Amino acid sequence: MDIRIERTATPAQKPDSTKLGFGRYFTDHMFIMDYTPDKGWHDARIVPFANISLHPAATVFHYGAEIFEGMKAYRREDGTVQLFRPMENVKRMNSSADRLCLPLLDEEDALEAIKKFVEVEQDWVPSNPGTSLYLRPFLFGCDEQLGLHTLQNAMFVIIASPVGSYYAAGINPVKIMIETEDVRAVKGGTGYTKCGGNYAASNRAGARAEANGYSQVLWLDGVHRKYIEEVGAMNVMFRIGDEIVTPDLSGSILPGITRKSCLEVLRNEGYKVSERRLSVDELVEAMENGTLREAWGCGTAAVVSPIGELAYQGKKYTVNNFEIGEVTQHLYNTLTGIQWGKIDDSYGWTVEIPKA
Ligand code: PLP
Ligand code: COI
Repeated sequence: MDIRIERTATPAQKPDSTKLGFGRYFTDHMFIMDYTPDKGWHDARIVPFANISLHPAATVFHYGAEIFEGMKAYRREDGTVQLFRPMENVKRMNSSADRLCLPLLDEEDALEAIKKFVEVEQDWVPSNPGTSLYLRPFLFGCDEQLGLHTLQNAMFVIIASPVGSYYAAGINPVKIMIETEDVRAVKGGTGYTKCGGNYAASNRAGARAEANGYSQVLWLDGVHRKYIEEVGAMNVMFRIGDEIVTPDLSGSILPGITRKSCLEVLRNEGYKVSERRLSVDELVEAMENGTLREAWGCGTAAVVSPIGELAYQGKKYTVNNFEIGEVTQHLYNTLTGIQWGKIDDSYGWTVEIPKA
């Protein structure tokens, strides 16, 4: 793929990498590529970071034709930069595109675009402990008409943001509220995709949780209102007795790449792992009888995040004395060790970016 590169004449000053937070600063450039039915994907370019101008009738504004991905570039101690399982993101983006009837990407071209973009922006990958360059590829429909029709025109864009930890608490345990009123997704809908609409549908419950001092909500399934699904921005895992349980990919939860990686590590190391339906009643029983030993969320932004408190129907349950558990810590160390190049990547998950 031919990628035109136009470098900025006015590079921005880099933010203090000890105070990054999440998603507040952006790099000097962005990747853009257009789709039209006659030309397919074309005009791939890396250009100075700027506002995007769109027709006010563009589909994305009215009918939510938007999907995105979240991935990170990490700086190793030897100074090189690497990605973590980037092809998984590309494949999931195409699965989302297929569900929303947006044009699919050529997987090799999309990976090349991500790699080239990170190569151009590599000075922006921070090196402080726990920091990385968060990449946000997104794809949206931009037909300029209000009728509901099969989508014709689209744009694929990648922006990047140097980030620290997603939660203000860092690796400290977070408080999560089990949502009993709103639902996020149902099988047959878009729950398994990373489309903006899923997050819009989650806003009200998320706002209620935040107002009550919780970081995010834990969703129950939309049909029975009974089975545990996932948290706002991460998948969940529980250590109940000797079993590590995570909800199976039923069609309404996001197939997280961190989830997949945690499962591969745990299975490889001989842990008893089940991907199965887990009812909220079983979880409450495990919290009441003390068999729930650990709970954690996992996601690109959140990494591996211990859950220290779960609230359900007005009752609060403390998990593992509000401390990070043994398996949670082990997964955190293993994944971040591979991501930041501190331990050997025996799984072959990392992809190195050439030095500029
Ligand atoms: N579930 C939701 C709703 C998410 O937004 C995310 C974050 O991307 C995840 C799970 C975790 O997915 P991944 O590990 O691929 O980042
Ligand atoms: C990610 O973990 O990459 C996400 O997309 C979560 C996002 C909602 C902040």
